This record gives sequence, structure tokens and C-alpha cells, in this order.
Amino acid sequence: MIWTHAVIVFLCLCPIYAAFGQDCPSRQDMQSSLKQVQKLLSTHEAAYLQSLRTLRKKLTLLQNTATKQTGKANNDTCLKLDTPANSRKLGKAQTPGHEVHFLCDAGYELVGAESRMCQESLTWSGQQPTCRNINECASSPCLNGGTCVDEVNQFSCTCTKGWAGATCQSPVPTFFVTMTNTSSATPSAAAAISPPAVTVGPFVRPSRCTQVQDTTHCTCDPGYTISGRDSTTCTDIDECELFHMGQAGRLCLHACVNTPGGYRCTCPAGYNVTRDGRNCKDIDECATRQNNCTRDQMCINTYGGFQCVRVDCPRIRNATYSKTSPLRCERNPCSVDNRVCSQAPNSISHHFLSVVSNLSAPRTMFRVSALRLMGDTLRFSLLGRGQARRHFTVQRSDRQTGQLVLGSPVLGPATLEAEVEMTELEKGVQLGRYITKITMFISQYEF
Ligand SMILES: *[C@@H]1O[C@H](CO)[C@@H](O)[C@H](O)[C@H]1NC(C)=O
Ligand SMILES: *[C@@H]1O[C@H](CO)[C@@H](O)[C@H](O)[C@H]1NC(C)=O
Ligand SMILES: *[C@@H]1O[C@H](CO)[C@@H](O)[C@H](O)[C@H]1NC(C)=O
Ligand SMILES: *[C@@H]1O[C@H](CO)[C@@H](O)[C@H](O)[C@H]1NC(C)=O
Ligand SMILES: *[C@@H]1O[C@H](CO)[C@@H](O)[C@H](O)[C@H]1NC(C)=O
Ligand SMILES: *[C@@H]1O[C@H](CO)[C@@H](O)[C@H](O)[C@H]1NC(C)=O
Repeated sequence: MIWTHAVIVFLCLCPIYAAFGQDCPSRQDMQSSLKQVQKLLSTHEAAYLQSLRTLRKKLTLLQNTATKQTGKANNDTCLKLDTPANSRKLGKAQTPGHEVHFLCDAGYELVGAESRMCQESLTWSGQQPTCRNINECASSPCLNGGTCVDEVNQFSCTCTKGWAGATCQSPVPTFFVTMTNTSSATPSAAAAISPPAVTVGPFVRPSRCTQVQDTTHCTCDPGYTISGRDSTTCTDIDECELFHMGQAGRLCLHACVNTPGGYRCTCPAGYNVTRDGRNCKDIDECATRQNNCTRDQMCINTYGGFQCVRVDCPRIRNATYSKTSPLRCERNPCSVDNRVCSQAPNSISHHFLSVVSNLSAPRTMFRVSALRLMGDTLRFSLLGRGQARRHFTVQRSDRQTGQLVLGSPVLGPATLEAEVEMTELEKGVQLGRYITKITMFISQYEF
């Protein structure tokens, strides 16, 4: 039986190999022939294993009946086995010598025996296995203190406050409005990837040749290769062209410049090439005095540049404001009878965010939160029309927090502004209004 299988395999192989010997077959023909042989081999291997198994079973059965002949009636079976949750049981026979196998569903792993055999004693060998949900959280995929929730075949992260994204990898700047007169700000943003590459012309060098008997061997310096039929010259390998969009990823994040025998990556103005030579990192012009902002301006570092901003307090009839910090204005006390003044915003805070172009969305860009509540109700809303409404929405994330959500990716360079108003009410009467102005500087590049 075993031998017939082996013979069939060889017979089938012969015509295919013979075909190779004739015309030089195309690479594709060869590959498909090889595939056929592989398929054939695995079919035969399976059949071979199957026949071995059958043989073994028959032997066991024979042994069993031989021993049984001595006395008892041949009517005994093992008790029916349950199928563990989230699995399949293969094999129905419950007579001695037979096995059942267990296969867990996708997303589950088997704990215990993969198969059990009905024994002579009419008990099953081994212990009943179980199928355990594979713990996708085992590798701690949630960053920044996020909590991992294991689900069948996947996981999800519950991020701690201030973090977002599938693995809690992106920071969400948060601003706390204190109902008194202090403020804090933390602008920040996440980076993304990639635009096109640039190449420069090739270079030529003579090759080094040695004569060995009748043949000439020519070699090139590293980064060069013999070009075409002329073995006396070496041409520069254009790594930028060769590895453009290669499988291992692009050579350079921004642009690649071919050089004699090598290449180098360049970055747009406002960026420096990183130490690894491939990526670009933003230059902080505000930290390095490479900016020309005046004394009454604030320097805001952006991706690829900087912005000089000036925060002026609003001029509203019947209300006056004082600057309590570089980014915050607060209303001066109103006289008791001045209703217009008491309805004016209590504070106006400015925040400047530097963001990369085409940031994936929807995404929470900013949170406004009340530290202390004096009224019974907080209301959050987006002020203004047009541009702000096209890009942003304001949602409540918990009782005291409203968040500014960017609805769709925005291509830079661009500057977007949004105003979030937080109103505090007590029995429907307005106690205070707090306005947060958020300016997003969106870079030209996605890094
Ligand atoms: C085999 O066992 C079943 C129940 O277990 C019984 O009904 C049947 O009569 C038995 N047959 C023989 C031949 O002993
Ligand atoms: C608010 O300002 C007043 C006067 O400027 C000051 O006395 C008070 O301490 C401030 N409150 C807080 C919480 O900073
Ligand atoms: C950028 O990189 C160059 C060379 O590595 C270095 O001389 C220069 O100081 C860097 N500039 C900044 C702003 O980091
Ligand atoms: C700062 O420099 C930029 C060019 O780098 C120039 O366009 C701008 O006018 C300058 N601003 C001031 C206030 O000098
Ligand atoms: C505005 O203020 C002026 C004096 O400061 C006062 O006479 C006037 O009534 C106020 N207007 C309103 C609508 O409160
Ligand atoms: C913006 O990002 C998306 C998804 O990452 C990408 O498919 C698209 O090409 C990007 N657009 C531009 C203009 O880079």
C-alpha cells in the first residue's frame, strides 16, 4: 500500500521533468509545473498519512477483538464526550481504540489534550480540553496608561484622559478653565508620513580590470556598477531610483539626492535630517532664536516653521479686560447695574496648536474642562460660522468637559480657528461665559 503511493509519485513526476529537458520553458511555465508537483506531493503525502492512520486503527481494533474474544460481549462503548465551548469535535466513534480530536474556533487556543482515545477500560484517555480566548492584551498594546480590553480575535484600548488613537498613542491637549484667574496650556500634535522623491543624474568612473589568462575581470567601487556592454566604465548606482517606493519602505522620508557612489536624504526648509539620515525633524525656531518675533509677540513653533502671534484683549462696549497671562484675558469686575458687562465673556483664552497636514480624522484636538462648578449646568458650544463649522464640532466628553473634534483631514499649509464657549448656568440663569480660541497651524507636509 505504502509502496504504491511512492510509485505513483514518481510516475507523475517523470513527465514533468522530461518536459524541462526539451525546449527551455518560460519561467512561468516552470513555476506552474513546480506548483503542480508540490500540490501532487502534498496530496500523496496526505493520502499516505491517512492510510497509515487507518492501518494503525485496524491493528488496534484487531488487538481489541482478540482480547475481547476471551469473555465479555462486544457491545461496550465509552460515554459520549461533550464538545468544549467554542470548538469542534472530530470523530464520532466511541468504541475502544477510536480517537476524537478537538479543534478550537478562530481566536481561541486549546488548553489540554488535542485528542482523546476510548480505552479498553471504556474510559477516555487524558482530560477534557477547553478552548481559551487568545489574549490579545498579553503584549500590552495600549500605550500611555490605556486599559486593554480583550475581544475575540482583537483588542480595544480604553485610553486615559488626554490620549487617543487605537493604541492611545496620540496626545490630546487639554485646557482646564479655572473659574478664578489662572491658566495653563500645552499645545502639541502627532506626526505622520511621506511625499515624493527627487533624483539627480548618474556618474561615470573607469573600472579596474585584471587579465587572468584569456579573460578580463573588471570591478567597480562600491555604489557603482558595470554599465551595459562596455566593461571599462562603471556607472553610479542611482539608489534613489532603485529604492524608490521599495518594499522595505522609501529610502528617504522627503527627498533623495543621488551622489557619486551613494545617496543622501534632504528635508524641506524648517526641517533637519535626523541622525539616521532618512527622516526629517522639525527645527524649533522659537527655542533657537532663528525667529524674528518682536518682544510683544509670542513665538509659536510649527512643523516646518514658526508663527509670531499677539494676543490682544477684546474691546467690548461696557466691559473691560485685563491680560492675566500671555494667552489669557479676564473681564474686570462689572458694576452691579451694568447688565451688558455681566453678560460679556468672563475670560478669553488663546491656544495655538501645531499640526501636520492631512492628520487622520475624526480626532479630538482639544478639550475644555471646568475645574470647579458653581452652577448646576455646563453648556459647550462652537462659536462662529463658515470655516470653523466646516471642520469642527464640539462634543461633550463628560459632565465637565467639552471637546473640539476635527471632522476630516485638512491639507496644509493652512490656519484654522475655532472658538469654544463654555457657559455655566444655575437654574437657567447664566453665571459665566468662558471662551477658548484655538488656532491650528497646519503644516505643508505630513511630517
Ligand atoms: C448492547 O447494549 C445496549 C444498551 O447499552 C443493549 O440495549 C443491547 O441489548 C446490548 N446488546 C448486546 C448484544 O448485548
Ligand atoms: C485672583 O486674583 C486676585 C487679585 O488679582 C488674587 O488676590 C487671588 O489670589 C487670585 N486667585 C487665584 C486663585 O489665583
Ligand atoms: C541641523 O543639522 C545641522 C547638521 O546636522 C546642524 O548643524 C544644525 O545645527 C541643525 N539645526 C538645528 C536647528 O538643529
Ligand atoms: C520675519 O522674517 C520673515 C522672513 O523670514 C519675513 O517675511 C517677516 O516679514 C519678518 N517679520 C518681521 C516682523 O520682521
Ligand atoms: C453701559 O455703561 C454706561 C456707563 O458706563 C451705562 O450708562 C449704560 O447704562 C450701560 N449700558 C447698559 C446696556 O448696561
Ligand atoms: C492623506 O492621507 C490619506 C490617508 O493617510 C492618503 O490616502 C492621502 O493620499 C493623503 N493625501 C495627501 C494629499 O497626501
